[in-house]
This record gives sequence, structure tokens and C-alpha cells, in this order.
Amino acid sequence: MSKLNLTQLLKSDVYREHPYGTLEEMRLHRPRYLQTHENGARSWFFTTYEDVSFVLKDARFIKEWRTLLPEDERLANEQREPAIFQLFQKWMLFRDPPAHTRLRGLVNKAFTPRMIESLRPRIEAIAQSAVAPLREKDRFDCVAEYAFPIPVAVIAEMLGVPTEDRELFREWSKVLALFIDLSDASEEELVRGGAVAHDMMNYFYDLLKTRRSVPRDDLMSAMLAADERGDRLSEAELVATCILILFAGHETTVNLISNAVYLLLKNPDVRQDLLQNKMIFPTAVDEFLRVESPVQLTSRFAAKELWIKDAQILRGDEVNVSLAAANRDPAQFDNPDAIDLRRSPNRHLAFASGAHFCIGAPLARAEAEIALRVFFEELNELECVNKKICWRDSAVFRGPRALPLAIRR
Ligand code: HEM
Repeated sequence: MSKLNLTQLLKSDVYREHPYGTLEEMRLHRPRYLQTHENGARSWFFTTYEDVSFVLKDARFIKEWRTLLPEDERLANEQREPAIFQLFQKWMLFRDPPAHTRLRGLVNKAFTPRMIESLRPRIEAIAQSAVAPLREKDRFDCVAEYAFPIPVAVIAEMLGVPTEDRELFREWSKVLALFIDLSDASEEELVRGGAVAHDMMNYFYDLLKTRRSVPRDDLMSAMLAADERGDRLSEAELVATCILILFAGHETTVNLISNAVYLLLKNPDVRQDLLQNKMIFPTAVDEFLRVESPVQLTSRFAAKELWIKDAQILRGDEVNVSLAAANRDPAQFDNPDAIDLRRSPNRHLAFASGAHFCIGAPLARAEAEIALRVFFEELNELECVNKKICWRDSAVFRGPRALPLAIRR
């Protein structure tokens, strides 16, 4: 590999087909790869487990790059920002302390392992009703007809939004995912993004207004109550948090379930082992998260100059960390390309690490465990219709666009 355009590489069809070979090459030969852009901006790409976990945990790597700009530039920049990015700026995912701590504190309690345990019977019922119509079919798309409806129903119920609007959420999520990706958005995409941001915000402004007058037993009402107790969030922050929870609460879990179904169909011995030893579901789900990480990549900005081994990171540099590469680093995982359903310890970074560690991890794990068990208990004679999988067009999110399956009669 000579000079490499990383953005192009990560967006290429070849890479999407076989990312792990390329990531291994990078880890071996260019573990801290620096790309300098035409405008002089610098982006790093880190691929070792050690570096990736270091960056995620070290407070010198931040999310809010604007705070590194001089005050007047920062204000001008914020005002010029397209509407969709103004929305992102209010997400805890893109904030640093103290705002991050305040926003995260508001929803934290809803996602504790204990809270999620109490949801299990409801998740099971949702999975059962998703699988029931599939039994009658010869063919179906596992992504659209199973992996998507379950997490979207669960998060919609938790939050308190009508599940019937799920097609709307699917459209919105597609647009949000596009802007989270590494793409340089076109003018047309920005206009579409702005319109979607506007629709989503109006949707939640209206719902929050209803909940303010008639609270229910849902997360939206709990957030309003916490806010009234003095946790002080602006209306715009509340709305943005609802959108983040709705989006993050299903977008990636759909990929986890679809990736796991795909891996299990491709590896019948692994599938048989899992179905004969159902107590290993929890470690199996973590192994699916490691082997096909639904979030492959995230990034930070260096708030200070520092060295990591031979790499001199300058203040303001963007540091992309490949969770996917870290999760297959042989320095951390024995036989990293093999699926070991009992792998323990399995300190994968699929949910990241440090201050932004995924809030929804216990929920995602419970959903995947239940969805996969119900699926393979109810439909056992399955096969993939296509030999080749068509992966999502994204450098950040990994999952099949569709997964057509046939039931053998
Ligand atoms: C953050 C992955 C499911 C809510 C994150 C991050 C990752 C991640 C990697 C951190 C990104 C970073 O550090 O830059 C995943 C995966 C999931 C999943 C792989 C499913 C398989 C969920 C679910 C929810 C959720 C079900 C439910 C609400 C969040 C939130 C954050 C987050 C709110 C931001 C946390 C913060 O900034 O402090 N997720 N997630 N995620 N996730 Fe998840």
C-alpha cells in the first residue's frame, strides 16, 4: 500500500466486501496512519486494540472540535452549520463534559442492567409476534421483517412514541446514518437532511407537549420530570436527546441481529452448538459483536498535542479509531478471526469504552439474545437465498442491506 486515500478506501465496494484483510494489513504495517487533506486538516486512522482503547479512554481526545477554535471563529462556524449538524451538536454523543455528563445523566437510569432485566418478557413477546408471520412464508427478508421491527418496537415503547410510526423512523434513521458517516454531503443532501431534522424536531416537540400535560410511564415523561426537578435541559436538548435515543436505540441493534443471523447461517456447526447449549447465548452475542461490529469506526479530536508511540498528534487532529480492527487484534484476542461462542474474557470495543461507552449496551445484548433464540427456535430450516451479501453503504455502520432467507419445507 502506497499513499492511501482513507475516505475513499473505507467507502469502496472492495473494502466493504472484505474489510478485515485490509484492516489487518493496516494494523501490521500502518497502525497509526495519517492522512493530510487538501485544506491541511489531518486525520489519523488507528487500528490496534491498545491505541484504540487508549484514545477512547483518554480525556485529551474530545468530541467538540469547535471548542478548539478561537471564540469568533467558533460562533461563526456554529451559525453557518447546516440544520442537521446543529441537531447533532446537541447529542451527548458529540458533547464533552460538563454538557455530556448532564445529558447522559438524564437517561442513564433507564438503561441499567436491572431495568433491562425487567423488560425481558416484553422483548420476548415482541420477538414472538415478529416471528409468527414468517412461519407462513417461503421467503422473507430477515432485516426488514425481523431484525428491524424488534428493536424499533422496544425503543419506541420505552421512549413512549407510537410504534405505528416505525416506517417514518426508518426513513429518518437512513438520513441520520448518512450524515454520521464519513461522507462529504452534497448541497442536495444537506437540504434533505435539514428537512428531516425539522420534521423530527417538530414530531418530538408535539409529543413532549402532550407528555408534559399528561405524563405516562415512559422515558419521555421521566426526562420531563427530571428536568422539572432542576436537571435543566433546554427544550431543544430534550428533543435532540429523544431523537438520539430513538435512532441509537435501533439502528445498530438491527445490524447486530442481522449480522448474527448471517454468521450463524454461514456456520452450521456454530449454530448447532449454540442451539444445543442455550446458556451460552450471552457470550455468543458478545462474540458476534466482536466479529462483525455493527459500529466499525468512531472518532475524536486531540485537544492537546501528544505523542502515541512514534505518532506526533497535533492539537485539532482528527483521530479515527477502528473498533472493527481493534476487535480482531491478535495481541488482544487469540485466534481473532474465529467465532468462539464461549470466548472469555472478551473485552471487545463494539460498544466503545470510556465516557461515551454505549448507554444501550445492556438493552442491545438482551434484545439480540432473545431475538436470536426465538428466531432459531421457531424457524430452523433456513438458508440464505443469495450467496453474496449486499452490505450497507457505510464506513461506520456494518450490516446487510437485506438478508433474503428461504424456509426449506
Ligand atoms: C454510544 C454502539 C445499541 C444508545 C455508542 C457508542 C458505540 C455504540 C460504539 C460510542 C460511540 C463513541 O464513543 O463515539 C452500539 C451498538 C449497539 C448499540 C454496537 C447495538 C448492537 C444502543 C441502544 C441504545 C444506544 C439499544 C439505546 C438507547 C447509545 C447512546 C450513546 C451510544 C445514547 C451515546 C453515549 C454517550 O455519548 O455517552 N453506542 N450501540 N445504543 N449508544 Fe449505542
